[in-house]
Amino acid sequence: MRTEQHPSVREAYCAEANAPEPGNMANVILKDIKKVYPYAGGKAEKKKQAKGTGEKKANLQITEQGVVAVQAFNLDIADKEFIVLVGPSGCGKSTLLRMIAGLEEITEGELYIGDNMVNDVEPKNRDIAMVFQNYALYPHMTVFENMAFALKLRKVPKDEIKKKVREAAEILDITEYLDRKPKALSGGQRQRVAIGRAIVRQPQVFLMDEPLSNLDAKLRNQMRAEIIKLRQKVDTTFIYVTHDQTEAMTLGDRIVVMNDGFIQQIGTPQEVFDHPANIFVAGFIGSPQMNFFDAELVRSGDGYSVSVNGVQFGLSEEKQGLLRGRDIPQQEITLGIRPEHITVGEEGIPAMVDLSEMMGTSIHLHAAVNHTDVVVVVPTADVQDKGRSAFTHGMEVKLEFGGNVVHLFDKENGENLCL
Ligand SMILES: Nc1ncnc2c1ncn2[C@@H]1O[C@H](COP(=O)(O)OP(=O)(O)OP(=O)(O)O)[C@@H](O)[C@H]1O
Ligand SMILES: [Mg+2]
Repeated sequence: MRTEQHPSVREAYCAEANAPEPGNMANVILKDIKKVYPYAGGKAEKKKQAKGTGEKKANLQITEQGVVAVQAFNLDIADKEFIVLVGPSGCGKSTLLRMIAGLEEITEGELYIGDNMVNDVEPKNRDIAMVFQNYALYPHMTVFENMAFALKLRKVPKDEIKKKVREAAEILDITEYLDRKPKALSGGQRQRVAIGRAIVRQPQVFLMDEPLSNLDAKLRNQMRAEIIKLRQKVDTTFIYVTHDQTEAMTLGDRIVVMNDGFIQQIGTPQEVFDHPANIFVAGFIGSPQMNFFDAELVRSGDGYSVSVNGVQFGLSEEKQGLLRGRDIPQQEITLGIRPEHITVGEEGIPAMVDLSEMMGTSIHLHAAVNHTDVVVVVPTADVQDKGRSAFTHGMEVKLEFGGNVVHLFDKENGENLCL
């Protein structure tokens, strides 16, 4: 059963009540955190589910103990850092956030907020504020009352509540809606109220679980920019969950890429984009997705090159040095190249045009290389006034790329050979 999409009023209340007065340091440390959801059913159910121990089914790691949602999770989040947890559906992002909030028990490992280990600290005493995907606003209260609720529980004087709510409303540009009930607001406005409710509490740590995923594309872009501004105004630690790699790239100081409950890579957006640790990260970060080819890494003495479909490509000195340093032998590999790094030229790998999508400033060209779909981003300026008709179905093209932009992955375990 998935629960995080529908935080109960009790949960929202827990996450709101009685938070201690704002402290100063809010680094968050996760040490070897593991989460196992025990089987809910009886023994027979357990046996049935555990059949084929260790087997992965639709992202579930099924074991004797239950479903392993997160494991071996180690992360040091600095005070005032903006961390984004990103990964596909079911990889354990919400589970992790809910453990930090205290809404989900930690099976193994240690969680520190500031200097305190908080594994057994009640959610209401953790000095965090959580914004859920579905807002979880109280429908019978006005916007003002929704935002004031937590402060009222804390017995903050009325004048001060008014001041704090007004300040937060100002930051989020929702002052004119303070007297309305949530049902009289648009999705974007409700989301602002949900964020406002968290801001007024001045928490040490802001937790946000896909706060923008209910919004349409335009509003999502707008709110993304709002969150960047918000971050500049309220200087605290943010832990933000999304499955959207664009959000991750634009918001995070560092991003944590997850898959199947494991961390795949931790780094700045640029690091993760330029030096993906493995094929999973390479394919997940970047849009359109990185292209992958079967290729051979050829070694001759101290030099390396790659051969794709019988076409030989040189590698940059830097890449060759990294391979030499690790004494990588000649072998079959998976070659990765981003669509922006391929050009259509006179020489290179022969490919057959399948279709082209006009995106405005660029054309996304889909071509087949030996039955593999390859996407190339061609700047519209490069084809001058031909536009969409520059590439027609069945046309033969040659794809070129430089030896500095390719990524080389181990065919067996998917790891980047040049790290
Ligand atoms: N209460 C629960 N009981 C059993 N298994 C659960 C429970 N909650 C989540 N899971 C499982 O744990 C795994 C991680 O779930 P989680 O909700 O953390 O994923 P997520 O990364 O947030 O996904 P999404 O992007 O879809 O929100 C999934 O396989 C999920 O089915
Ligand atoms: Mg989730």
